[in-house]
Amino acid sequence: MSDGVPAELADHPDRLRWNAKYADAPGLSPVHPLAERALAAGLPDGGVLDLASGPSGSALLVAAAGRPVTAVDVSEIALARLGAEAGRRGLAALITLVQADLGAWRPDPAGYALVLCTGFWDRAVFGRAAGAVVPGGLLAWEAFTEEARRHRPGLPAEWCLGPAEPASLLPDGFAVLEQADDPATGKRGLLARRHVAPPRRVP
Ligand SMILES: C[S@@+](CC[C@H](N)C(=O)[O-])C[C@H]1O[C@@H](n2cnc3c(N)ncnc32)[C@H](O)[C@@H]1O
Repeated sequence: MSDGVPAELADHPDRLRWNAKYADAPGLSPVHPLAERALAAGLPDGGVLDLASGPSGSALLVAAAGRPVTAVDVSEIALARLGAEAGRRGLAALITLVQADLGAWRPDPAGYALVLCTGFWDRAVFGRAAGAVVPGGLLAWEAFTEEARRHRPGLPAEWCLGPAEPASLLPDGFAVLEQADDPATGKRGLLARRHVAPPRRVP
């Protein structure tokens, strides 16, 4: 496309839906408490990956802490807003904006000290995200639970975590630091750390 939108996203329903939402609602997404807790918990050297970032206050927070951030989202309106704010704060050099469908996008195999995703759920994306955390790094995720559908019947089941997810889907080599539901929002948050070394096997 001539406006810089990748051709494969031209008619993508997620892009069209979220562009319309962001066009109607100016402003940034607030810093997510999971991002704050991940920074406070300690991270190894390396960059941060913010999946389904939106105009992410969390990405700005970690960039302000000196971390390079890759923000991936299907909406160019969200990314342009994030980029403009990063420029205003002198953080543009630390933030890489990637417009992509997370169903098709693949993370840098070198990995990230923190992979953050809030407000989005897809089991395959979660698996790839976990694989992209470097040893000692953190995976932080938040999404709606099945319970949320009782109050929001229009919420598609595939956007919602099943019981015990996402911790139950973590591959070997992760320790769950926290997994908790927020009944007020119908969302569940996870913070998990990848072991520095694989756990020793008992013969
Ligand atoms: C609920 S918002 C969450 C934004 C931000 N992470 C937050 O917590 O405020 C969901 C985000 O997912 C993005 N999104 C939806 N479907 C996507 C897809 N298939 N690929 C990439 N991003 C997608 C939307 O553009 C939107 O920014």
